[in-house]
Amino acid sequence: IKKIGVLTSGGDSPGMNAAIRAVVRACAYHNIECTGIYRGYQGMIEGDFKEMGARSVNNIINKGGTILKSARSKEFMTPEGRKKAHENLVSNNIDALVIIGGNGSFTGGLIFNEEYNFPVIGIPGTIDNDIYGTSHTLGYDTALNTVVEAIDKIRDTASSHNRLFFVEVMGRDAGHIALNAGIGAGAEEILIPEEDMGLDRLLDSLRKSKASGKSSSLVIVAEGDKIGKNVFELKDYVEENMPEYDVRVSILGHMQRGGSPSCFDRVLASRLGVKAVETLLEGKSNYMVGLIKDEVELTPLDMAVKGKSHIDKELIKVSDIVSI
Ligand code: F6P
Repeated sequence: IKKIGVLTSGGDSPGMNAAIRAVVRACAYHNIECTGIYRGYQGMIEGDFKEMGARSVNNIINKGGTILKSARSKEFMTPEGRKKAHENLVSNNIDALVIIGGNGSFTGGLIFNEEYNFPVIGIPGTIDNDIYGTSHTLGYDTALNTVVEAIDKIRDTASSHNRLFFVEVMGRDAGHIALNAGIGAGAEEILIPEEDMGLDRLLDSLRKSKASGKSSSLVIVAEGDKIGKNVFELKDYVEENMPEYDVRVSILGHMQRGGSPSCFDRVLASRLGVKAVETLLEGKSNYMVGLIKDEVELTPLDMAVKGKSHIDKELIKVSDIVSI
């Protein structure tokens, strides 16, 4: 392998820049070339490439977002799109890819590898932490800290006005952010996609909170929560059944995806970026690099895509106990 292409794809996450930096510098360290591919697979199709040397990634370790930009490419889902992408890689002498992204991005990489036998390695980058084969995805730790900081602020106003707040956090299919940030911010209840706590239990819990002397409450709701009601429907439901509560809704939204990465995410990005390049140089392909018991490990890319990242049941129990 003489030249590696690196791209970021899907939803961005803090730490992606630190990972790009690590990949580019690991290439320089091992005396091979590196090409940055803009806007994920779409830029691959359009030949939107830039040669990157060690100095081209100065001063980005601390930056949120991705300097290579990100996209979700519909064209790459077609054989014609992938053919164009392959032609561009070949004409630019790129002979392996590091894909920084989530499940959808890895699926694209697997199909591309199958069609063109093109070496690919994945680095898990998403704030949702919903990828099998790693305890942490890039950006998750930063997002947790962002969410906790935001909820702390909501707590101030909730407490001043004796209000109940429903706070919606990201997590289309996964409750990791809601559960961990919820415990970290001292929420009364946490609604996640993996468990259906039911509306009755929610009301029961809120009633108990009130009866025990709590004057304000915070309920953290993951976007994809299992009860199936959005935060505004939840507000209406609770107001109908518990008119004594003054309820407000706060949706944290995309601010959760931005910001300077935490030290944890920067170190993780650096470790995974180096390992991705080394893995390709060892002649391996179709793996995701991830963190398992604080060691950088390889997981077959198809397993990373198919496997389920489980919610830790202990956390649910802890939340129930400490929110009494
Ligand atoms: O990055 C993952 C995620 O944050 C999901 O939790 C969320 O549903 C989705 O991205 C929204 O992303 P977009 O607005 O870019 O489609």
